[in-house]
Amino acid sequence: MSQTKSSRKTPDQLRSARWFAPDDLRSFGHRSRLKQMGFSEADYVGKPVIAILNTWNDLSQCHTHFPERVEQIKRGILQAGGFPVEIPVMSLSEMFMKPSAMYYRNLLAMEVEENLRCHPIDGAVLVGGCDKTTPGLIMGATSADLPCIYVPAGPMLAGNWKGTRLGSGTDSWKYWAEKCAGNLPDCDWRGVEEGIARSPGTCMTMGTASTMTAIAETLGLSLPGASSIPAVHSAHGRMAAESGRRAVELVWQDLRPSKLLAREAFDNAITVDMAIGGSTNAIVHLIAMAGRAGIKLPLERFDELSQRTPVVANLRPSGEYLMEDFYDAGGLPALLNRIRHLLHTDVITVNGRTLGENVAGAEIINSKVIVPEGKELSQAGATFILRGNLAPDGCVIKPTAAEPRLLKHTGPAVVFENYEELKKGIDDESLPITADSVIVLKCGGPIGAPSMPEWGMLPIPKRLLKQGIRDMVRISDARMSGTSYGTCVLHVAPESAVGGPFALVRTGDLIELDVQARRIHLHVSDEELAVRRSQWIAPERRYERGYAALFAHEVTQANEGCDFRFLHAGKATPEPDIY
Ligand code: FES
Ligand code: MG
Repeated sequence: MSQTKSSRKTPDQLRSARWFAPDDLRSFGHRSRLKQMGFSEADYVGKPVIAILNTWNDLSQCHTHFPERVEQIKRGILQAGGFPVEIPVMSLSEMFMKPSAMYYRNLLAMEVEENLRCHPIDGAVLVGGCDKTTPGLIMGATSADLPCIYVPAGPMLAGNWKGTRLGSGTDSWKYWAEKCAGNLPDCDWRGVEEGIARSPGTCMTMGTASTMTAIAETLGLSLPGASSIPAVHSAHGRMAAESGRRAVELVWQDLRPSKLLAREAFDNAITVDMAIGGSTNAIVHLIAMAGRAGIKLPLERFDELSQRTPVVANLRPSGEYLMEDFYDAGGLPALLNRIRHLLHTDVITVNGRTLGENVAGAEIINSKVIVPEGKELSQAGATFILRGNLAPDGCVIKPTAAEPRLLKHTGPAVVFENYEELKKGIDDESLPITADSVIVLKCGGPIGAPSMPEWGMLPIPKRLLKQGIRDMVRISDARMSGTSYGTCVLHVAPESAVGGPFALVRTGDLIELDVQARRIHLHVSDEELAVRRSQWIAPERRYERGYAALFAHEVTQANEGCDFRFLHAGKATPEPDIY
């Protein structure tokens, strides 16, 4: 974007100047306390204060390189004449947090928004990457609407076990199924455990982390190419420093999220999600992120864009390769250039240039990874939206990660009322289940579970695994990991815990799945469903206090993004009084 000199901010217009410049008692306090921390006026007067919002902690397995990256970001901020301040915010470890990291996405978003609002901050560098940290940071920064740039953690190195390349998540499920089938001895299973996660960085399949960081870059919030750089590559440190430098300039140009996050940018993000074979989680997050920008994204928009977008990234779980291959193949800029005819290329990005300018000339280095015309993994995008009497408000499936024979299938339901029941019962020898059955899990939704844990790749009974069955139709109101695969229908809305029709399914009911027709149908008459509804008893409320109670009260359904109702865009929150 070409900004004229006159539209640039002057030092006295900095937001932080409200704290530090006045000749009054409060400002005396602010200045004397900066001095207490060892800062002189030369450190901060007339300089943009850039917050580095760092989602690091000792249990944040994907962010272990952040202390070094923060130093590199600080270097860039100082070089560009800014004043860096590190503000730690909640980390969301996908691996360790229960019931799920998703449960805390909105809390991180609130923490980000309020930290930016209450402190003397002019702009921010958002540092995240593990799954829900990306939407959490961006949702909060969008609501605060201060100039900001996103530094993605970058994917970890490819896994390795006895010379076999291992992909995060995807190969855990795969080898677990082999172990359950009796095909993998314990010593080999331990070998997989040792080799599957061998460096800092996020999951290196096209899981939720890589999907969301690619989306952040597409939305124009990261420097071009940033999201594909492996976490331990020296280019990652250089990108961090460059992001710091750029953050300072963003403040002078007053380039805020509200100037980047237009409807066209979200269309681009959805298109890229489809073209990379992105995680189903992206749908929930994009709806929530757009909601913060005042844009409503109906599920149908995902399906419309999916239908015209081929999958061109040959990455697991839909394809074969891993994120470091993607980077070496040209990374996201090459992919964006490959599908530029499907994008709004005139949207502005965080470096001040348009998306089209950023990716012009970006070459595909390896056409096995970013595939040319005629070699697409699928003609339509990675995710389809289904509807029917079972899910009047929609549900989601990733057909590229499913066995094609199951995409049109009718079978009898085997219903589990909740996850405990599923865990106890799935391997019960007396369970009336065959490869044609449809496994159903209820109480996995935003309120029911709560927070839609990644249970949606429901386990296949060991008895069937031993017979060589590796995929079945499975339906839940939960989510699944972006690294998962199988014929899994997810995010059923309304969820069972609020009495959606999904709550009424019983073992033995016939369920019809027809992915091409975008249809999911429960073959039970309306009359019978009305009888069942009159007998339905809502599950007891489990939480009376604290965040859990707030969550249960305020969270929206999957098709609405699972944000809290009171956090949707509306009238802007005024700047805090500074007395
Ligand atoms: Fe952090 Fe997968 S566990 S990205
Ligand atoms: Mg995940």
